[in-house]
Amino acid sequence: MIEFKCLENGFRYIEVTNTKANAKVALNGAHLFHYQRVGERELLWLSDISYFEDGKAIRGGIPICWPWFGFNKDDVSLSQHGFARTSLWEFKSSNETTDSTTLVFTLSDTKETLEVWNYKFSLELKIAISDTLTLELKTTNLDTKEFILTQALHTYFSILNISNVIVKGLDKKPYLDALSWQNMVQDGDIRFEREVDRVYQNIDNTITLVDIDREITIKNEGSSSVVVWNPWIEKTKRMSAMKEDAYTTMLCIESANAFDDARVLKPNESHTLKATIY
Ligand code: BG6
Repeated sequence: MIEFKCLENGFRYIEVTNTKANAKVALNGAHLFHYQRVGERELLWLSDISYFEDGKAIRGGIPICWPWFGFNKDDVSLSQHGFARTSLWEFKSSNETTDSTTLVFTLSDTKETLEVWNYKFSLELKIAISDTLTLELKTTNLDTKEFILTQALHTYFSILNISNVIVKGLDKKPYLDALSWQNMVQDGDIRFEREVDRVYQNIDNTITLVDIDREITIKNEGSSSVVVWNPWIEKTKRMSAMKEDAYTTMLCIESANAFDDARVLKPNESHTLKATIY
């Protein structure tokens, strides 16, 4: 079942219910902000004090960082993580069976996007909701010049406690430490006891988030970089729309094309970033 819903302030979202899962996707950012499998606790972390307003990023769920990840290298005054997460997308189509629902959203260039990023494009996000969650983000260059694309499906996972989770699958992978801007190599599994903000490279395998009560697997395609981020105590205090203890129950593992994994798209070329989570 697909229901079109609206908050009192006009903020629109789509609620999906099938025999396997329940999910909510906002038109602002084509942002999945709730996904729960039947009989399980919520998969995605969502801040209790997030904005739900058109033009503002939701804190939690899966923001779409596009067409740049992090700061814009050419103009650092532009919004971090690009404009897709704060743009109103168009709901294009849906496909339903009893145990699976697929929603398709699109975004195209406008006068406003051309002012900050001077390229014509089409962007399509396909979200498949079942006992597996799949997101496919397809970028097509409709311009006459090539562009460089960096992006991420910035997934906030809901965890029981950051001190007990382990991330497996990144042992021996090189990473850029975004706190010191040094190139490092991962030694063993990742455990968390301080702020972590890292862009792992050369990833061609699945990543597993091991929590006390469950294991979540993330498989990426069209991507060889993964961002692992937890702001810990001090940064959380400086973050917007996050309570002080928020860092204890969230962990971002982001399916990305970032830094060395940036993609160049020539006119008429497409690139698809796909994340499968189960
Ligand atoms: C992560 C970055 O991807 O996003 C962090 O690695 C950043 O450095 C975080 O703080 C959140 O960004 P924002 O713009 O949503 O506050």
